[in-house]
Amino acid sequence: MRPLIAGNWKMHGRLADVQGFAQAVRAAARHTDLLICPPFTLIDRFATALAGSGIAVGGQDCHPAPEGAFTGDVSAPMLAEAGASYVILGHSERRYCHGETNARVAGKAEAAMFAGLTPIVCIGETEAQRDAGEAEHVVRQQLMHSLPEGFSGIIAYEPVWAIGTGRTPTEADVAAMHAAIRAVLAEKLGEPGKALKILYGGSVKPGNAASLLALPEVDGALVGGASLKAEDLLAIAAAAPRG
Ligand code: 13P
Repeated sequence: MRPLIAGNWKMHGRLADVQGFAQAVRAAARHTDLLICPPFTLIDRFATALAGSGIAVGGQDCHPAPEGAFTGDVSAPMLAEAGASYVILGHSERRYCHGETNARVAGKAEAAMFAGLTPIVCIGETEAQRDAGEAEHVVRQQLMHSLPEGFSGIIAYEPVWAIGTGRTPTEADVAAMHAAIRAVLAEKLGEPGKALKILYGGSVKPGNAASLLALPEVDGALVGGASLKAEDLLAIAAAAPRG
């Protein structure tokens, strides 16, 4: 599987950042797929700046409905029209700051697929859940209930306690969780579940990318802070094994 290195810019990035970043990532040789998920305001600009480069642009959320009286929301067809081909869904910052439930995430994933976007559904346990020995159970429940029937997309395993903290699980813990995720995907989705990409996210940096990306069933990375610098994102991509 060709690895996917995805940058989640979260609520960072201004118009002035787009050209330089796009030029830097366009210019670099790469053996992975690359995806930039900027704030909604920059999707159209990034899509233009990256046109023809093979580097994809994605959103960070979408509403389950195609349109309607939903102040502040953006729909999947709107993202597609702006030039996005992916959308991150159910990120822990949405689950915990915006009260998003598994069912809500499943509705969004369905809308994304219908609009022709590739959903990236995020799952992951809190530190308290890991300490209580519940990590695999929590992740299993999230997978069983956040993925709609016939789900086709990407899973990102992001332990909540590893996001933005500089801490990562051990390699053994990442490998064990990705194997568990693969088993649930196969159980829930059958044969197609065996071919979906599973990304690791949570404090991925140039310094730890090679060891994380070499683990079995780790098909790429979802990168937060380090994706804001083109140089770091490219270093992470360069550290990925040739798939
Ligand atoms: P950091 O890479 O900043 O830990 O963020 C991870 C993340 O939340 C990506 O979606």
